[in-house]
Amino acid sequence: MIKKYEPIFKPFTFPSGITIRNRILMAPLTTASAFENGMVTQDELAFYEKRSGGAGALITACAYVEKIGKAVAGGFSADSDKMIPSLRKVAKSIQGKGSKAILQIFHGGSMVSPQTIGGETPVSASAVRAARDWTVTPREMTEQEIDNVIKAFGEATRRAIEAGFDGVEIHGANMYLIQQFFSPYSNRRTDQWGGTLEKRMRFPLAVVKSVLNTVKKHAKNPFLVGYRISPEEAEEPGITIEDTFQLLDKLAEENLDYIHLSIGELWKGSIRNKEETEPLLLRIHERIGDKIPLIGVGSVWHPDEVLQALEKGIPLVALGRALIVEPEWVQKVQKGRVNAIRKSLSAQDKEKLVIPDPMWEGFSAIPGWLPIREDQ
Ligand SMILES: Cc1cc2nc3c(=O)[nH]c(=O)nc-3n(C[C@H](O)[C@H](O)[C@H](O)COP(=O)(O)O)c2cc1C
Repeated sequence: MIKKYEPIFKPFTFPSGITIRNRILMAPLTTASAFENGMVTQDELAFYEKRSGGAGALITACAYVEKIGKAVAGGFSADSDKMIPSLRKVAKSIQGKGSKAILQIFHGGSMVSPQTIGGETPVSASAVRAARDWTVTPREMTEQEIDNVIKAFGEATRRAIEAGFDGVEIHGANMYLIQQFFSPYSNRRTDQWGGTLEKRMRFPLAVVKSVLNTVKKHAKNPFLVGYRISPEEAEEPGITIEDTFQLLDKLAEENLDYIHLSIGELWKGSIRNKEETEPLLLRIHERIGDKIPLIGVGSVWHPDEVLQALEKGIPLVALGRALIVEPEWVQKVQKGRVNAIRKSLSAQDKEKLVIPDPMWEGFSAIPGWLPIREDQ
């Protein structure tokens, strides 16, 4: 190993006691390749298997906790006990070569198309359409429905425990339901779940409590719980970094294992105020200190960028696209073969790199998402 990269390979122990063997996690990456009933396919499993053994932990694609929260056609499910065998296969495929397996659990709320949920109307905090062309106006959830979703996150966690996962990540980011409750854009409620910043925090915190209580009750071995957050929203009104600081202060009081940012670039400044160029990652790190480990993410392709983050006190870095393009990224750094890290790919590489067809089609539909070469 090249000496300067040694810090990347220093094991890390989360507060719950789970240890990973290096500072890299695979970011959650939806492959959109599950069966219609929410069970995983061989293609989904092969994607994880191919990437097991490099990163210390692999976070799965987001698994829905209720059918009405299924945001992606081909997304997989954690919504009933019937899914436990399917979830078990996912955990095993990740753990096969020694990575820890973290199940990302989510509800899409208004970011769900009626087509993926049998023509039903999606639900959200309020009847406010998400700022995306393809969305429809959702139906405001009743108090009973809110209660049910909070329990559903707990139930999905119990299934993750029974399926042998090492932890769950609560998906509080990317404009999905948890974020919709926190956002002044999508949450216009005037009951106990909305109206003030404090009330908008209630749903995310209730989900966290539900998950942590489940772990306390059901996990016999250390089991970690992380939380993913989008620190700002571009919408007006929208989540500000000050709002996020308040939520992080509350999250820091809970027994969470990490906060995982969802940002497109590791060193990105504010998206709401272009003059605030100080990276959100560092501002958040300053705010939470060492109370909860932080995971940085976003357009990291070279190990030097991971080192820079570690040097600034960020203990962990997640890689998304870099691990799609180069499943052996971590191994190549470890073996001193940094120059051999693949930086782009062509359609011919799809099978060798074990990229499921629906995922590949998704990339082809969004030019620039992956560095795809045209050579045939
Ligand atoms: C194909 C694809 C699928 C993704 N699926 C998820 C997901 O299921 N859950 C999630 O939180 N983020 C998801 N993301 C976002 C990534 O986790 C990550 O934050 C983003 O790609 C930025 O990291 P990168 O530049 O290293 O890829 C997805 C990204 C891509 C490209």
